[in-house]
Amino acid sequence: MFKSLQPAPPDPILGLTESFKKDPSPDKINLSTGVYKDERGNTPVLNCVKAAEQRLFETEEEKGYLGIDGLTEYAQSVPELLIGRDHEVLQQNRTVTVQTPGGTGALRVAADFLSQRLSVRRMWISQPTWANHTNVFQAAGLQVESYAYMDSTGTSLDFPALLESLNQIPAGDAICLHAACHNPTGIDPTLEQWREIGEVVRNRELLPLVDFAYQGIGRGLVEDSAGLRELLALHRNLLICSSFSKNFSLYGERVGALTLVADSEVAAQTALTHVKSTIRANYSNPPKHGAAIVACVLADAELTGQWESELAAMRDRINEMRRLFAETLIAEGVERDFSFVTRQQGMFSFSGLTPIQVDELRSKHSIYIVGSGRINVAGMTASNMGHICAAIKAVLNE
Ligand code: LMR
Repeated sequence: MFKSLQPAPPDPILGLTESFKKDPSPDKINLSTGVYKDERGNTPVLNCVKAAEQRLFETEEEKGYLGIDGLTEYAQSVPELLIGRDHEVLQQNRTVTVQTPGGTGALRVAADFLSQRLSVRRMWISQPTWANHTNVFQAAGLQVESYAYMDSTGTSLDFPALLESLNQIPAGDAICLHAACHNPTGIDPTLEQWREIGEVVRNRELLPLVDFAYQGIGRGLVEDSAGLRELLALHRNLLICSSFSKNFSLYGERVGALTLVADSEVAAQTALTHVKSTIRANYSNPPKHGAAIVACVLADAELTGQWESELAAMRDRINEMRRLFAETLIAEGVERDFSFVTRQQGMFSFSGLTPIQVDELRSKHSIYIVGSGRINVAGMTASNMGHICAAIKAVLNE
């Protein structure tokens, strides 16, 4: 049976990290997968995580299954963090949260739920978007279409084109919006633009699915959720797919959540029964350890404070790398204006490098970035910056 198979293409993001691992060059640099590195090039285990793990080690009494929807304490903390504890949707008990294996797991559960239980047929994604969105949504049986996002310079939002394409979407379709730190462009709408987007989405009777994988990585925990709160002011039904991979540096623990905001408490609880049966048919119930860490940190004021300052340090370092990247390119004598990099948010920068230049970065300089030209700024350090910028200069001059 298997002999008839042709190899599937490598994943456009994780496939690059696989190739990177095999690259024998001592100077290789991986700026492909969105993983944060500290100034020494290591992905840190946060101190608040170590402290929580110590507590869990001392107090955990069993390794039984979690419920289908995951850890209860975790499910309570997540929406408070995403939306703000005092938000009316929480006061009115209009949310339900299920723990999922990472943000990708949340997207897949959401897509299965929409496609199988609500008969949603289409999902609209920004052009460009995270390389795995299409894959996940199509696997759940949704037809994937795209709406305009970036302007022709590749450095800012084309807001009129965005609104125009949203205005073409048929009622009843779902639309995937990035809450903050748009992946791959790093270009986010302003608050005023969020309001307008929310109005068009409401007038067109679309269902917003908010992908929120980078809370606290852009401007701050509260600041990064401002767009989401604008949407909540206008929409009584909404889905949020969130992740603690980046902001807790818990990548391999696969800690995510799907939060559903419904019109009423009863509607939310009924939707939960469907989400749970979707999960049961998929992976049965989620893994425990990562969610237990997050729940432990968020339940303890001191650990939460420690987490917030460790998160702020990651955010500040990324912004510092943005500044240094733009500065070093100038110092290298690169004529193209890269100052837009300092105005983008989050881990990624959309560099504008062509697929050929991206290939040359890899084949001639062992620098790995995503084929679209997306660079993981969070993987840059003061010590690899010179090599990165010299290589970019070389490929621009080819
Ligand atoms: C990324 O965009 O690089 C990350 O979200 C990791 C992934 O799963 O693609």
